[in-house]
Amino acid sequence: MLQKLSSFPGVPGPVVIIVMDGYGLPKTDVGSAIAAARKPTLDKLFATCPNIRLKAHGTAVGMPSDDDMGNSEVGHNAIGAGQVYAQGAALVAGAIADGSIWQGQAWQEIVAGAKAGRGVLHFIGLFSDGNVHSHIDHLKAMVVQAKAEGVKTVRIHALLDGRDVPETSALEYVEPFEAFLAEISDPSFDARIASGGGRQVITMDRYEANWALVEAGWKTHVLGQGEQFASTAEAVKALRQRHPGTIDQDLPPFVIGANGQPVGTIEDGDAVVFYNFRGDRAIEITRAFEEADFDKFDRIRMPKVIYAGMLQYDGDLQLPKRFLVAPPAIKDTMGEWFAKSGVTQFACSETQKFGHVTYFWNGNRSGKFEGETYQEVPSDVVPFEQRPWMKSAEIADAMIAALKSGQYKTLRCNFANGDMVGHTGNFRAATLSVEAVDLALERILPVIDAMGGVALITADHGNADEMFELDKKTKQPQLNADGSFKAKTAHTLNPVPLILYDNVSGGKLGLKQTESAGLSNIAATVANLLGYEKHAKWDESLLQIR
Ligand code: 3PG
Ligand code: CO
Repeated sequence: MLQKLSSFPGVPGPVVIIVMDGYGLPKTDVGSAIAAARKPTLDKLFATCPNIRLKAHGTAVGMPSDDDMGNSEVGHNAIGAGQVYAQGAALVAGAIADGSIWQGQAWQEIVAGAKAGRGVLHFIGLFSDGNVHSHIDHLKAMVVQAKAEGVKTVRIHALLDGRDVPETSALEYVEPFEAFLAEISDPSFDARIASGGGRQVITMDRYEANWALVEAGWKTHVLGQGEQFASTAEAVKALRQRHPGTIDQDLPPFVIGANGQPVGTIEDGDAVVFYNFRGDRAIEITRAFEEADFDKFDRIRMPKVIYAGMLQYDGDLQLPKRFLVAPPAIKDTMGEWFAKSGVTQFACSETQKFGHVTYFWNGNRSGKFEGETYQEVPSDVVPFEQRPWMKSAEIADAMIAALKSGQYKTLRCNFANGDMVGHTGNFRAATLSVEAVDLALERILPVIDAMGGVALITADHGNADEMFELDKKTKQPQLNADGSFKAKTAHTLNPVPLILYDNVSGGKLGLKQTESAGLSNIAATVANLLGYEKHAKWDESLLQIR
């Protein structure tokens, strides 16, 4: 049990945490879909409620450096855990730097497995330096090590990014990497990219939103089915020409072929490393490789391979069984300690962010704690620039119903809009997405008042706050060849807001801005609002009680 606070009994009603995914606070309004949006509710909140800025990127959320943007995994981990753990990106970089990854049983089994079979080691993963799901430097290190350990053939299945990095940057990764592979290849070692495609089109689905993407990836990487090109650089150029305006994440799948044959299908006896460290978009393809009785699509052929993930993507489900680096062992989350203290909890989001407010929130834990209720609103399966409101209205409905039920002491939800629509690079749609969230807030907040509760309104990282690539010096938008603004699809390094919406304490409650204030301070703040001391492991509370 958490200790009761002596100075404050807690607010009479529920404490609600609202995460506006992808809502950062930019340094300039130029290119900010948030600044451009009409959002009377949020404007009023900023003008009248206690509000501060929280760090949501870099070391404040467990990334290797402060040049790393935040993302929803590390952001929701930090919010839910109330502490900062070194995250996948940092753990893998460390294991490569000190060589411990090569000593691990998993890497040794991968190398031994490849050698015992046809001698082929495959790497599948996101092909960029975004450091959200993967880093191309990790791939490079593994290719070099595989050669040093006598693996004969390496085949890479490259998922084009354009979502965590600039939207048409694929060739900046592909061309140097294909040159590196040519250089490292010799009569005893043959390394090539074998297949690929845009990450939003194949392989990297999450939360079972659209298994058809994984099926398309399986056909491309494993079966080698699809249009053939001589190299990945050639594939990217040809596909861009054929689909003008299509950004990297949406480019169709391709197969690299020679003499009409795919160069790298996945066969019995091969070894396969899925080199993303982040789990959400790695789980489904991992299941396709590992599950004997798998019914999500017809695999046609299921090669018997030695499979490893860069990390274990789900510890409870033990997915995958073999992994190169151990994931952070997140303990003592607010979900766990609120459950132990008898605080009932409600969590809601739409499919695209459902695991974020449940699994990531609870320290990468599947399954609920005692007294937790989850509600998933199924996401549309459409490009989100076509439905920028997404499921904001339905999430608001669910939150209002849960609030009115009086069953929950704390409720949390995630509005995916600013992030998912921000990732499309469509400015107009992103402004609408922010307006939709504003409308949802306008509906939820009076119900919180009626129940005697308060809300903390925040975000996990920025995205919609910078929709154009800005020149670093002038802070003006960069231009495309045709004079249009260069769209930015990735997250930002900006801080996020923490707003305390409180019509019950009569001005007794405030927030303090500290130098280090970040997402990991939210758990303790919520505990105090509920009338509890923070857990000893949590970072300090930002609540001021006057
Ligand atoms: C994605 O997976 O969509 C992006 O790489 C990161 O987005 P998220 O961290 O906001 O989920
Ligand atoms: Co995002």
